Amino acid sequence: MNRVLVIGSGGREHALAWRLSQSLTVEKTFVTPGNAGTAMEPAIENVVLDVDDFSILIAFCQSNNINLVIIGPEQPLVNGVVDALSSSGIACFGPTAQAAQLEGSKAFAKEFLERHQIPTAAYAEFTEVKAANIYLQTQNFPIVIKADGLAAGKGVVIAEDLTQAEAAVTDMLADNKFGDAGSRIIIEEFLVGEEASYIVMADGKNFLPMATSQDHKARDNGDVGPNTGGMGAYSPAPVVTDAIDQYVADEIIQATLDGMAKDGMPFTGFLYAGLMIDAQGQAKVLEFNVRFGDPETQPIMTRLKSNLDELCFSAIAGQLDQVSVEWDSRFALGVVMAEAGYPFSYAKGNRINGLKEVGADKLDSNIKIFHAGTAQKEGHIVTSGGRVLCVCALDESLKEAQNKAYQAVKKIGWDSEYYRTDIGFKAI
Ligand code: AMP
Ligand code: GLY
Repeated sequence: MNRVLVIGSGGREHALAWRLSQSLTVEKTFVTPGNAGTAMEPAIENVVLDVDDFSILIAFCQSNNINLVIIGPEQPLVNGVVDALSSSGIACFGPTAQAAQLEGSKAFAKEFLERHQIPTAAYAEFTEVKAANIYLQTQNFPIVIKADGLAAGKGVVIAEDLTQAEAAVTDMLADNKFGDAGSRIIIEEFLVGEEASYIVMADGKNFLPMATSQDHKARDNGDVGPNTGGMGAYSPAPVVTDAIDQYVADEIIQATLDGMAKDGMPFTGFLYAGLMIDAQGQAKVLEFNVRFGDPETQPIMTRLKSNLDELCFSAIAGQLDQVSVEWDSRFALGVVMAEAGYPFSYAKGNRINGLKEVGADKLDSNIKIFHAGTAQKEGHIVTSGGRVLCVCALDESLKEAQNKAYQAVKKIGWDSEYYRTDIGFKAI
């Protein structure tokens, strides 16, 4: 029987831990640090560990007989948590620090894509304001300016004109707005189309596609307002037609795994290609993430029928070509409930009402509430982060899943709640 540790505290980690805890081959699921939602799951236990201190992590795994670790967020991966755990003999599903550069450095990713002729936007790389500004003089607008390093999703500026572009360059390169992450920048061609998330499990050479999904990155209805971590998602995503699926699988995902292996850093873990699909159905890579998406994980995990722990072990053994994955054929849609003010400053500590009434089996067993920024305080669940909950529903059509999710959302609430009311609109 497997004993699993999930690292992270968001809705993604709640969904991964929940799915793992239901596997017949999993005896125990720990999450560090987890949230109030994982704390309430009967088969999940939260633990407080300093995950930046690999020796503490390794000691915990050894004394609790953990035989599988799954990492939610990118930072520990970029820091080398997989290298540290694997060298202590603890099976860990995720990329090495070297392979995690696909997300950790946008310059690395762009150079990689160009070297292996994988479709992506044209770009140039700069460390000096002057050179960047000279380049901008010759470009069309809008144009995209990106900090090289990890910037918690905030390091991308879409500049409408030269003035905005120069301001972004100065912010990043001269004023150090993103610290070290912005000491190198990418200036990239603006791509038009519809975005989709293509997420796979990779074993270094083979991959298993996770179901297709689409995120909603903008804060407000109709995809306007500031960029966020994601305000809702659904799966499957009809924008990914069979033809696009085949193209992405061959020319983007397999090409990436082949390129990484050829470059001496085979990629094992969840690989997430953020794609822009244009009106002709041509897909290009916007970015790579070396982890599962949040909130895409939540609807995808509600549809996964196979045992996630067994899939991870097959991947670690390099045997994904020998397994298949089973999905619930229904549609899943998740609505993120956030604190008003997110992605900027927001209140914390607001008491959340209605959770018990909507709890899994109360309203409908096809509704699942994943927690993110929640905490327990004096016997109540309170808000403790920008994205607070992701309310997911499964149904025969996307429209029915949407209705069901919003019915539940309306029963839950707190003083300063905020959510989009149009999740799924592009596909409905
Ligand atoms: P990234 O973190 O690179 O995915 O960028 C965050 C968001 O910025 C993406 O999800 C897109 O909405 C947008 N974006 C990034 N690069 C481009 C591009 N080259 N063209 C148009 N939009 C982009
Ligand atoms: N939902 C976008 C991300 O996880 O990066």
